[in-house]
Amino acid sequence: MSGACNKVAIPSGTSGVHLVSFRYHLGFLGGGQLARMSIMSAQRMGLRCLSLDPAADSPASQIANSVPGDLTDSDKVAEIFRQCEFITLENEFIPSEIITSAMKEAGRDESCLTPGAPTLGMIQDKLVQRECYERAGVPSPRAVEAHLGSEMLGFPHVLKARFGGYDGKGTRTVKTQAGSDALRETWESAPWLAEGFVPFQRELAVMVCRSRTETWCFPTMETVQTNHVCDLVFPSGIDASEVALRAVEAVQGFGLFGVELFETATGEIIVNEIAPRPHNSGHFSLDWGGVSQFEQHVRLTLGLPLSRIVGQECCMANLLGIGEPGSFEQGIRAAVDSVPHCQVHWYGKSEAKVGRKVGHINVAGRDCVALAQRARNAFWEGFRLG
Ligand SMILES: Nc1ncnc2c1ncn2[C@@H]1O[C@H](COP(=O)(O)OP(=O)(O)O)[C@@H](O)[C@H]1O
Ligand SMILES: [Mg+2]
Repeated sequence: MSGACNKVAIPSGTSGVHLVSFRYHLGFLGGGQLARMSIMSAQRMGLRCLSLDPAADSPASQIANSVPGDLTDSDKVAEIFRQCEFITLENEFIPSEIITSAMKEAGRDESCLTPGAPTLGMIQDKLVQRECYERAGVPSPRAVEAHLGSEMLGFPHVLKARFGGYDGKGTRTVKTQAGSDALRETWESAPWLAEGFVPFQRELAVMVCRSRTETWCFPTMETVQTNHVCDLVFPSGIDASEVALRAVEAVQGFGLFGVELFETATGEIIVNEIAPRPHNSGHFSLDWGGVSQFEQHVRLTLGLPLSRIVGQECCMANLLGIGEPGSFEQGIRAAVDSVPHCQVHWYGKSEAKVGRKVGHINVAGRDCVALAQRARNAFWEGFRLG
């Protein structure tokens, strides 16, 4: 399996790791599992890493140095800019203005940050993101401010928080005027948008790696969400990288991007949203035998050349917290008894709330979709027994 539709340019120059007066090569704004898995890749390359996260025992802080602090605290963000040569994000929620002012306070310029603050600003407001797609002619649902939804879009339509939504927490489908009215308080008390409902056949995702000199895409994956949370990711058999790349270009994005897409019954590919960072739909790449999304992310942030993207078919099943105590050890034992070549990842979260992403299982090779689900079922059975 290889990432199709790659646009190649010859890397120019040799930017990369060099000795400067920073204590750390790489800083992460956020210390969850995405930062942790990126740090694991960075450490393989001998890089020293630092993360900022409000939780004292965040997944990233367990494996590298960290600064405890609020992600919207400009002084704390500035500290990361002072201590690290290159900086990246693990979520899109820190207001871009805070990042820009912290960067200035630390005496740094835009070149140390991937993705850049302007791109982040375009992505973190979902209405502005949609407007970027519309201007660039990238297929995407029409979106308006929430109060105009009923009149301009009719029913059904989808209401979404413009800022800060994740795992479906800021997304509601309304079928009637009464349904919209029932949510009025929600969409009037904060900025929300309304957008056209897409009767999609399936959801897809493409990880796009775009530097100033090279662009590569991971294979197009199908993603299955349960209760709005991604549950299963596997090869889709089609190539949606062209539309995904156009979406990244529409927000002038450089770095690693997870592009979520809809495929309609007629095969049309429509952009849902972009995440400017590693993405759940790319976790398969940890165990597919080729370069991982995390390694590409680190290379993009440091300006290192990218790897060509080739690997085996691989399926990822998310481990979503079940809200019950249990034993990881018994879980992994049961998973491996059931599917000996499965790879179990556990994020070391201090709390495993119901539905929260606490780990994932990858299975590469033949029958990977059925086997990943089998391994996951076995994992939870074992976990509960422990
Ligand atoms: N316009 C839409 N039409 C139909 N379903 C949608 C639409 N927008 C979102 N959804 C559904 O809701 C899920 C969550 O919405 P999304 O915009 O991706 O927000 P989040 O930031 O929570 O991932 C999507 O994965 C998809 O299943
Ligand atoms: Mg989404």
